[in-house]
Amino acid sequence: MALPKLQIALDNGVLSEALASISQVGDEVDVIEAGTILCLAEGMEAVRCLRALYPEKTILADTKCADAGGTVAKNCADAGANWMTVICCATIPTMQAALKEVQDLQVELYGDWTFELAAEWKQAGLTQVVYHQSRDALLAGETWGEKDLAKIRRLVEMGFKVSVTGGLEVETLPLFAGIDVFTFIAGRGIRDAADPRQAARKFKAEIARIWG
Ligand code: 5RP
Repeated sequence: MALPKLQIALDNGVLSEALASISQVGDEVDVIEAGTILCLAEGMEAVRCLRALYPEKTILADTKCADAGGTVAKNCADAGANWMTVICCATIPTMQAALKEVQDLQVELYGDWTFELAAEWKQAGLTQVVYHQSRDALLAGETWGEKDLAKIRRLVEMGFKVSVTGGLEVETLPLFAGIDVFTFIAGRGIRDAADPRQAARKFKAEIARIWG
């Protein structure tokens, strides 16, 4: 089982704040995400700035694209993103059009997706999915549990690289022990910590302890 990667989600509403966040932890993480909130607020300039600061890092634009996949993906790639996200209700042609323009694509799992649909994504050449506990579901009292782990395991068995996200804290990670998670995506758990660099290091240390 490979060591899961650590991705920071920059869901800052203002570019200057995202840059302040990443300046503290950019060297500690494997993947840098221009979060949906940041992309919507600041557009592709956010991706351009992250690429300028981190020429060697994998950068993901979390566009959660639903349509015009080729155009959105080309904009992301031109700005310097390696990967982008599409929402799981996007059509297969939208996903395929996006996949032609970026190095890789993640399907964001929200709402009523099915494993039959996941099989179609696989057939269409998609390799990455993001298993998500939405911010709003967590606020409404949802928690991580066995129902999530069973779905994550099944997606891994189907051959997907499965990233996991949604309100993750270092203390949440042991729940996923024994599962071949591709990447843990943490936003507030790192950005809002008193010492974000230390928080990122704690995530990495816990990942190494469990999966190393
Ligand atoms: C929200 C997202 C977030 O980037 C992701 O869930 C990580 O954020 P946090 O750790 O703060 O929940 O995709 O749509």
